Amino acid sequence: MSYTIKILPSGHLFQTKRSQTILEAAIDAGINLPYGCRNGSCGACKGKVLEGEVYLEDYQFSVISENEINNGITLFCRAMAKEDLTIEVRELAMTNNIRPKIFPVRVEALEKLTHDVMVMKLKLPSTDKLQFVAGQYLEFLLKDGKKRAFSIASPSHESSLLEIHLRLIPGGEFTKYVFQEMKEKSILRVEGPFGNFYLREESIKPIIFVAGGTGFAPIKGMIEETIQKGLSRPIKLYRGARVLNDLYMDDLCKKWANDFSHIEYIPVLSESRKEDNWQGRESLVHEAVLKDFVNLNNYQVYCCGAPQMVEVAYNAFIQQGLEENEFYSDAFTFAAPLEK
Ligand code: FES
Repeated sequence: MSYTIKILPSGHLFQTKRSQTILEAAIDAGINLPYGCRNGSCGACKGKVLEGEVYLEDYQFSVISENEINNGITLFCRAMAKEDLTIEVRELAMTNNIRPKIFPVRVEALEKLTHDVMVMKLKLPSTDKLQFVAGQYLEFLLKDGKKRAFSIASPSHESSLLEIHLRLIPGGEFTKYVFQEMKEKSILRVEGPFGNFYLREESIKPIIFVAGGTGFAPIKGMIEETIQKGLSRPIKLYRGARVLNDLYMDDLCKKWANDFSHIEYIPVLSESRKEDNWQGRESLVHEAVLKDFVNLNNYQVYCCGAPQMVEVAYNAFIQQGLEENEFYSDAFTFAAPLEK
């Protein structure tokens, strides 16, 4: 049994099977709806059901209110059709018709950069290349059926050796395994690419990148991609960390700023220690941006880091004049209100 879904305002049609979420069916059909976590916990996939009925599988109650559900709003990553539907959602520019796939990877290198950050390089089978856009993410498929999402830190032209930055999560089984037991040459299964966090190249607005912790990973991929493509939109890269040691790959960022006049690097520490002998900016990373820009009206902001940081930054930047639809975040950690 399958149902037909019509999207407004585009008028696009696609089919969904009984056991598929609307988002899964859209991805299968090559239709690019906004989404992030794909498990009902970020809200990035919200949209409206105009005609027909859906049912929602498990989701986090904090992400969508009763009131929204009563008004036809749903989470397309958890909603299944009960009949043919007409839905309203803004489709995103196509990311080159990229469809996610499941494939094996070999852990080519593991390099511990700080006490809690590991860089992992993943090699694809020699016959395979992954099509992705810098900023997207992969999911590791674990033996117990669980999935763990990590951003790709590589630009898309380096698709045969994918770089991932992992932070050791207290109590996190997968990252603990990576830090303590995983060996190079291990074989893992991954699925991807996923995500709508990528550079909107059609814009000419100057770019502000805001990265906290390993939120630097997708931004690194995007910056390397702009360099490879010879794009010269002005870039300000704000990186936030607590102490100096947490600013991993600091030299790489300095090199970008040194080699390219359109790239500026602003590292910001929030809790520098005496031994850091820190002469740079000291505040929360989003506060540094607010201090530097009286009005964010003519900028695009790409922000990735802890969900709380991204949420606070979003609200503060909008207050400071940023257009709502010019704030892009890695939505598997945070979703801004419905994209318009
Ligand atoms: S809640 Fe649907 S993608 Fe996150």
